[in-house]
Amino acid sequence: MKKLVIALMLVAFTFSVAYAADVVTYESKKGNVTFDHKGHSDKMACDKCHEGEPAAIAVDKAGAHKDTCKTCHKTDGGPTKCNDCHKK
Ligand code: HEC
Ligand code: HEC
Ligand code: HEC
Repeated sequence: MKKLVIALMLVAFTFSVAYAADVVTYESKKGNVTFDHKGHSDKMACDKCHEGEPAAIAVDKAGAHKDTCKTCHKTDGGPTKCNDCHKK
């Protein structure tokens, strides 16, 4: 029984990884922002961005300009200038 539960958890985990979006594009008048989810995930742990079981995160302007994106870029070295995220 315990083995079955672990097997099911592995299936669920593999499933969620396989279904996580590779690249997400946010449309903006300032220029579209491309978020390479896979590229980020290859370079850092899931829990840098996800709390608990990884699931969808709502990305809005206020969040993107702070904790969802930019705060980490300031400390860990990603783009922080408008046009480095917003590409026309
Ligand atoms: C770390 C990346 C990043 C940086 C740096 C950044 N933005 Fe954004 N911005 C985003 C993301 C992602 C969204 C989209 C959120 C959404 O889809 O609701 C967004 C949304 C916006 C929006 C709202 C969408 C629209 O077109 O109405 C505006 C305006 C905007 N940004 C302007 C700016 C300006 C001005 C700067 C520089 C001072 C800036 N952004 C810097 C990532 C960034
Ligand atoms: C740099 C931050 C970051 C990292 C690292 C990260 N994610 Fe995400 N993840 C996000 C954001 C932001 C979204 C929401 C994207 C969107 O749909 O707007 C998301 C969405 C997801 C979703 C929902 C996808 C969907 O289509 O609804 C899953 C599942 C997920 N991530 C799993 C993972 C797993 C597993 C890892 C580690 C291997 C991981 N993420 C690493 C930021 C991250
Ligand atoms: C936990 C830290 C972290 C978070 C959160 C994060 N990033 Fe990044 N991001 C990085 C780092 C580190 C780099 C630089 C990677 C490199 O140069 O190898 C980067 C690079 C980028 C780049 C440059 C091109 C690329 O893909 O390498 C873009 C664009 C970008 N991030 C967009 C976003 C957006 C949009 C979000 C929010 C939805 C986000 N990032 C959230 C750490 C983060």
